[in-house]
Amino acid sequence: MTPVYWGSYAPEIETAIKDLDFTYKIIRIVTTHEGSGLANVVADIKKICKGANILNDSIAIKGTDCINARSKIENWI
Ligand SMILES: Cc1cc2nc3c(=O)[nH]c(=O)nc-3n(C[C@H](O)[C@H](O)[C@H](O)COP(=O)(O)O)c2cc1C
Repeated sequence: MTPVYWGSYAPEIETAIKDLDFTYKIIRIVTTHEGSGLANVVADIKKICKGANILNDSIAIKGTDCINARSKIENWI
């Protein structure tokens, strides 16, 4: 999960995962945003998580709607 910053994932995400091995790993992406939706997050995560299987079910939740997003997240899980 990442907030959308400048159309992509938060820089902290890259710091946290840059040295990890994603071979055989499955990634499901959730973004929070204020209008950009998923923006370039899926494409940019694909670039840094080489070997990962990034599922095609990413979801984007507007930051101000997060407080009401429980059922959306539960259905997605
Ligand atoms: C530096 C910065 C850049 C941002 N860039 C975008 C953006 O490109 N598109 C967008 O929809 N929201 C953008 N936002 C809004 C964030 O996505 C929003 O604040 C976040 O999803 C809510 O999480 P937070 O409470 O952790 O900030 C930006 C926010 C910050 C602080």
